[in-house]
Amino acid sequence: MNLRALRIPVLSTASLCAFALVGALFGVSSPAQADDDACTAKSFKLKEVEKVCKDGGRKAAKKMMQAAVKKAKEAGEKMNCKSCHNDIKEKFDLKANAVKDLKPWI
Ligand code: HEC
Repeated sequence: MNLRALRIPVLSTASLCAFALVGALFGVSSPAQADDDACTAKSFKLKEVEKVCKDGGRKAAKKMMQAAVKKAKEAGEKMNCKSCHNDIKEKFDLKANAVKDLKPWI
C-alpha cells in the first residue's frame, strides 16, 4: 500500500525532467524562429534562397536579391524587384517568371 504511493511521485518527477530536456533542446535548435523578420515562404524553389532565408531571414534574402539584380543589370538586363515580385513590402509573392529568371543570377 505504502509502496504504491511512493512510486507515483518518483515517476512524475522523471517525466517532468524529460519535458524540461525536450524544451531545452527545441529552444536551442530554432533560434531563427525568434526573429520576426523571417522569410514567409515555407517551401522554396531555389536551394540558394532557402539557405539564405534560413540563415539570415529576409534581411539576408534581400541582400541576395539586390546582388542578383546588380549582376543582371551589369549584364545589360532590365530588372528590378518588381520584375519578379508583385509585392515588395510584405508577402513578396512571385510572378510566374520569377524562379526561371532568378536562377542565372544567383
Ligand atoms: C529575377 C527574379 C527576381 C528578382 C529581380 C527579385 N527576386 Fe526576390 N525572389 C525571387 C524568387 C524566385 C524568390 C523565391 C525563391 C524560392 O522560392 O526558392 C524570391 C524571394 C524573395 C524574398 C523572400 C520572400 C519570403 O519571405 O519568403 C525576398 C525578401 C525577396 N525575394 C526580396 C527581393 C528584393 C528586395 C528584390 C529587389 C532588390 C528582389 N527580391 C528581386 C525572384 C526575384
